[in-house]
Parts: sequence; structure tokens; C-alpha cells
Amino acid sequence: MYILIKGGGSKQDEHKEHLFMELKNTKIVVIGGAGFTGSHLVDQLLKEPVKEIVVYDNLTRGTEDNLKNALRDKRVTLLKEDILFTDVLNTVLKGKDYVFHLAALWLKHCYDYPRAAFEVNVRGTFNVIEACLKNKIKKLIYSSSASVYGNALEIPMTEDHPFNNRTFYGATKVAGEQMCRAFNERYGLNHVGLRYMNIYGSRQDYKSVYTSVIMKVLDRLYKNKPPQIYGDGSQSYDFIHVADVARANILALKSNKTDEFYNIGAGTRTTIKELVKLILKITNSKQKIQYLPQGLTFVTHRIGSTNKAEKDLRFKTKIQLDEGIEEVIKWRDSQVSKKLLNN
Ligand SMILES: NC(=O)c1ccc[n+]([C@@H]2O[C@H](COP(=O)([O-])OP(=O)(O)OC[C@H]3O[C@@H](n4cnc5c(N)ncnc54)[C@H](O)[C@@H]3O)[C@@H](O)[C@H]2O)c1
Repeated sequence: MYILIKGGGSKQDEHKEHLFMELKNTKIVVIGGAGFTGSHLVDQLLKEPVKEIVVYDNLTRGTEDNLKNALRDKRVTLLKEDILFTDVLNTVLKGKDYVFHLAALWLKHCYDYPRAAFEVNVRGTFNVIEACLKNKIKKLIYSSSASVYGNALEIPMTEDHPFNNRTFYGATKVAGEQMCRAFNERYGLNHVGLRYMNIYGSRQDYKSVYTSVIMKVLDRLYKNKPPQIYGDGSQSYDFIHVADVARANILALKSNKTDEFYNIGAGTRTTIKELVKLILKITNSKQKIQYLPQGLTFVTHRIGSTNKAEKDLRFKTKIQLDEGIEEVIKWRDSQVSKKLLNN
């Protein structure tokens, strides 16, 4: 059911009207829901009047621990299953209303293992789309990535920026978006694709070989070593807190938009040098930055325009980078001390 929400505030907004749907009594599947972003999405969905949430995740990267709080709620079930199992996918999606698809292999993993990336990100996504159609899922929210744009040809990048991607990961996300679009055209698949910028926040992987710059810097500081920057640190990105990304997913589901792709970012440019300096300031560290020769870099500049998401989804980030980084540090400290206590 759609309800009408009138645009409020300024004169310009006066005539804008948006249709937003209620989630009362709905049954939702979150594929990849035990991961970093997916688990935050599950937490936020629980604040909605949904009837059931099934988390479908093979736990290659996600963990049950990420869902510790969510699993206390009777509405949540965790299924340790793979999107490559079409029969299981079809059974699980039977009778459900909505699907969020966040399962994917990460950028560097795709670089190292392109066949595995093809299997999960392309074939797995095809399986998800097919199962959505078979089971008449009312809407699919697909996690794409700003990687589809590659290096920015202009900043900020709007959704019309060309696919300047040169990575296999980006190729899989272009494929995912295009499969959704093709099946919208042919079978009327109701979908929205979200192109996330650089997500950070609690539950972000800090242990595996595939970790983000923030976690690498914190790791060095924790070991009393200077943080390292590859190159001169002028590479710039658009960092967005995971709770904001989770909220964007729910807004995309509730909106009446279909077959659209949206940048999900803060729209703020932060260089790696600025980011590291901010972390040093927040942690009161006296360490000096160590500059190393430029290593393997996939993209050097990427900042997304936020206009389309603001206009269509009413999405705007709420968490500033400094408060978000403080939250990550607190969370990471609690994890590290928990680990020490358990050993
Ligand atoms: N983190 C970022 O900065 C970022 C940026 C752009 C796009 N994205 C996209 O957002 C989504 C979520 O990213 P994240 O950082 O939370 O990643 P994540 O790795 O924490 O979450 C992905 C989840 O998918 C699960 N998964 C992987 N393969 C699976 C399979 N074959 N079957 C079932 N489950 C499987 C993993 O166990 C994991 O829990 C991904 O699609 C990612 O490509 C992330």
C-alpha cells in the first residue's frame, strides 16, 4: 500500500509529492544480511512493522555475531545458504514480499579471483533476479557500487556519468545493474539499484586480508606504528556511514521509484591524507604519517552527486565523518578488548 507524503518546507518543495509505501506485515529477505551493511539494514528493518525477516547468507564474510541483537527478535531467521543454490533460493523466496540483495565478493577479492567473482556477483545475482521473478517478489533493492563509474571524469559524478570502470568488480556490478534493467524491460521486474560510495562504520571487516583504509590505519595505530599512505594521499573519496546506507535501502524500497539507479554517498570530498589526519586527531595520536610509493590503486577520485537520491528518495546523510569515525573506533576497541578477554 502506498501513502502520500507531502513535501514540506520551502516554496520550491510545496508542489512536490512523493509516494512512500508502508512495510506493515511484510516478509523480507536480506541476501548478504549477515555482512557489514546487510546486518545494519536488518537492525533498521526491525524498527519497521515488518512481519518476518529472513537473512540469507553463506557466512563467507558475514557473521552471526553481526546479527547478535537482531536474532533476539523472533521475526528474524538466519539461513546459512548460498545464492548459487537456485533450489534453496526459490524455496526461501516463496511467499515473500521484498528482497534486498547485498551478497557479493569484494573489490580486491574479485581482482584476485575473477572466476569466483563471476560466480557470485554475476551468476549469483542472476539467480536472485530469476528467483524474484519466479516468486513474484514485489520489489528488489540491488546493491551496486560507485565502482561502475571508475575514475571520475567529472566531479561530482551524477548517475549519468559514463561507466568508466576498469575493474572486474565494477564489471560485475555493471552486469548486475544491466540484468535488473533487462528483466524490468522484459518481465517488469520492480527494482532499484544503489551505487554506494565508500562505506565505513561498525562491523566493518578489520581482520581479513581485504580491509579498508580506515581499518588499516587503526590497526597500525593500535600496534603503535605510524599510519601509512600509499602515494601522496591526494586520492579523494566520498565516505558514507553504514547506518546512512542502511537507511537509503529502506527509503529505496518504500519509494514508488522503479528501474532507477542512485548514488548513495555524502557528496563530500575527503582526501586520504585528510582522513588519516582526522583519525590521528580523534585518537590523540602523535604518530607521523609514513608515505610509501603508490601501490595498487583501483580508483583515485570518486565523489558522487547526491541530488537524485535527495529528490526521489528523500535521502540525505545524517552522520558526519568525524562522528562516524569515532563510532568505528569505539566499536573496534570493544571488539579487540573482547578478543583479548576471550583468549
Ligand atoms: N563496503 C563498501 O564500501 C561498498 C561500496 C560499494 C558497494 N558495496 C556493495 O554493497 C554490498 C554489501 O557490502 P559489504 O561491505 O557490506 O560487504 P560484506 O562482504 O560485509 O557483505 C556481503 C555478504 O554477502 C555474503 N555472501 C558472499 N557471497 C555469498 C554467496 N555466494 N551466497 C550468500 N551470501 C554470500 C557474505 O558472507 C557477506 O555477509 C555488496 O554488494 C558490495 O559489493 C559495498
